[in-house]
Amino acid sequence: MQRQSSSFIIRHASSRDVGHVSDILTESFYRSHDRKVNWLLRCFTDLAYPLLRYGIMLDLNSRFSEQTPCYACLVATHTTNKSQAIASLEICMRYVPTKPHHQFWLGHTMQQYPYIFNLAVHPQWRRRGVAKQLLLAAEKTVKQWGFSRLYMHVLEDNQPARSLYDDIGYRLHDQENSLNHWLLGHPRRFLLQKNF
Ligand SMILES: CC(C)(COP(=O)(O)OP(=O)(O)OC[C@H]1O[C@@H](n2cnc3c(N)ncnc32)[C@H](O)[C@@H]1OP(=O)(O)O)[C@@H](O)C(=O)NCCC(=O)NCCS
Repeated sequence: MQRQSSSFIIRHASSRDVGHVSDILTESFYRSHDRKVNWLLRCFTDLAYPLLRYGIMLDLNSRFSEQTPCYACLVATHTTNKSQAIASLEICMRYVPTKPHHQFWLGHTMQQYPYIFNLAVHPQWRRRGVAKQLLLAAEKTVKQWGFSRLYMHVLEDNQPARSLYDDIGYRLHDQENSLNHWLLGHPRRFLLQKNF
């Protein structure tokens, strides 16, 4: 698969992309770009960065080598440098509740559906429509697997991601009501769903 639209190409990742994808994930999920973040925490993440990146790389390598059916990692590259991934997402099968949260009285059954995780765009390439293109390519991939529904989790306080998902039609399916939220004020995890 290779989809080209505007200046970005979306394709399936290969083992050669593992280094770049690990950089994107570490940079996006562990390094804060918020100037208000305490300098001590910033120093800590800077020191731990190589270790975090190495852990992510091992996980990616094992997912790539397992060759699980219905697993995919898609990457986006810019047409000027087709070998350097600038964004990625992964899709796997995951058990999710079949009934939305407001129908809790109908019981709590779980079923496996395609699930998106680890969506991240390198900070230098954000707000150019790359994530949107990756998500649309993910829909085409799961359609080829015979599904017409996708799920993903998002944290309540991740406003950029929530705007993006809302923009392309993901809707709230379920929400986690953990003790951490009620006692410690931690953001909730929302399970989103899109039918296409
Ligand atoms: C969330 C993220 C993937 C968005 O990637 P992106 O390539 O910048 O998103 P796009 O350019 O495709 O944005 C499409 C739409 O989403 C919304 N959006 C994206 N980023 C936004 C932001 N920072 N603030 C408000 N809306 C935003 C907008 O509606 C945008 O359309 P517009 O640019 O025409 O207004 C990126 O910010 C990121 O990697 N964040 C860190 C990792 C992360 O949180 N991943 C999601 C985990 S659930």
